Amino acid sequence: MQEVKELLSEDRQGEPVMMEQQSELQTGKKLYVESYGCQMNFSDSEIVASIMSKAGYETTKNSEEADVILLNTCAIRDNAEQRVRNRLTQFQGDKKRRPEMVVGILGCMAERLKSQLLEEEKLVDLVAGPDAYRDLPNLVTEVGTGQKAVNVLLSRDETYAEITPVRLDSNGVSAFISITRGCDNMCSFCVVPFTRGRERSRDPKSIVSEAHDLFERGYREVTLLGQNVDSYRWNVTKKGEVINADEDTVNFAQLMDLVAQVNPLLRVRFSTSHPKDMSDEVLEVMAKHENICEYIHLPVQSGNSELLEKMNRGYTREWYLNRIESIRRHMPNCGISTDVISGFCSETEEQHQDTLSLMREVKYDFAYMFYYSERPKTLAARKFEDNVPLEEKKRRLSEVIELQMAHSLESNKKAVGKIHHVLIEGDSKRSSDMQAGRNTQNVMCVFPKLGHKKGEYVNVRVNDCTAATLIGEIVE
Ligand code: SAH
Ligand code: SF4
Ligand code: F3S
Repeated sequence: MQEVKELLSEDRQGEPVMMEQQSELQTGKKLYVESYGCQMNFSDSEIVASIMSKAGYETTKNSEEADVILLNTCAIRDNAEQRVRNRLTQFQGDKKRRPEMVVGILGCMAERLKSQLLEEEKLVDLVAGPDAYRDLPNLVTEVGTGQKAVNVLLSRDETYAEITPVRLDSNGVSAFISITRGCDNMCSFCVVPFTRGRERSRDPKSIVSEAHDLFERGYREVTLLGQNVDSYRWNVTKKGEVINADEDTVNFAQLMDLVAQVNPLLRVRFSTSHPKDMSDEVLEVMAKHENICEYIHLPVQSGNSELLEKMNRGYTREWYLNRIESIRRHMPNCGISTDVISGFCSETEEQHQDTLSLMREVKYDFAYMFYYSERPKTLAARKFEDNVPLEEKKRRLSEVIELQMAHSLESNKKAVGKIHHVLIEGDSKRSSDMQAGRNTQNVMCVFPKLGHKKGEYVNVRVNDCTAATLIGEIVE
């Protein structure tokens, strides 16, 4: 169902992206990185490029000329892993011609399978989990000396805080900033707590200074990233005890407030919010700052409270709808998107209908939709039977998608005839006579060029739309 997601999304999740950048040391060695999965993985690849650049590797977009090939992988669903396996098999073919080339696997699939892809399947030379990237230069050297190059140790405190990411595949306008790593939530379907380890927050000073630095370099939008950004906390334990009395404590709302003050021309976005933790304080800060975008991604997963409990999501349908109501009260025009899983263990037709009815109630502007894929080690895999037949999962998912397509189109139609504040990201993919950028609600707008540069804000009157894009013209 990856195709469907791509069809509905301007997001690049799931698509491999090749990246290129100069190195600091001139060794002539080249690194090729391909990234899969969520925004956090793309953000991590920029940290990897930074670490490897210090070791003398320049990034290339051409795998044929690379000395080291790294695949930063995702384990969220089985089909994500299958794509990576196919790609690794291809690289094994290339290796027959260039045996000195090093092929490594990073990210969540590396963490999940540990040394399996190296020792048993012999598909890679190197394995590094998400907390082991500082070790990459050593691991590459170890491959050269014929040792087993595996580091999948998870850390309780690694945040790569002081590493300045090398911005890869960047439009020079928007950038990701990781604010937390890991996840402590243990949703029963989800592999992330096993692949990314315990949740930890990054020093707010390093976050704010990264945002400053990006602004100075011409960037005009930052997206604060974490699996559950609402649980960001600095200098305070989960129980609320202050760690260092001489330093301020910072929660997510306060962090956003700090980042929003970097410059009024720097847009701030964030992802992902968790319905059980999203506070009114966050909504108040959003409403207060013009430059915090009015857009919230609030994954619901299911519209049925019994199933939500089985998923261990920590909220009910009613709680979720109350959060939606609160968003609309604070920001009547806020864009809202979600994630839905169809066919989770024991989901009945009635429960599936509850998801559809919740979708009708909320009328999401956008959604990522999946059918359930059992992941080894998770609570669901250990305790519940994956008993909705595949055909049934697919049928339910197609109903969810069809409904969402209608809602997305409806939402975009409402935008027609209005003027939107748009940050220009560059030329439109389809035509160099057109430019593209997002409005505050995160919807992509395309419009004919009028001599404005990327990174500038323009007002766009929207005249037409599709389910994914707004089409308009700049009004001065
Ligand atoms: N931290 C985010 C989500 C991260 S994973 C959150 O809690 O909302 C992104 C999405 O993938 C999830 O929201 C969920 O909809 C989907 N997903 C996760 N595990 C899955 C599985 N085993 N099968 C199908 N979809 C899954
Ligand atoms: Fe997975 Fe739940 Fe954590 Fe999201 S909050 S990453 S779905 S365990
Ligand atoms: Fe995938 Fe890992 Fe992200 S499993 S969705 S790359 S945290």
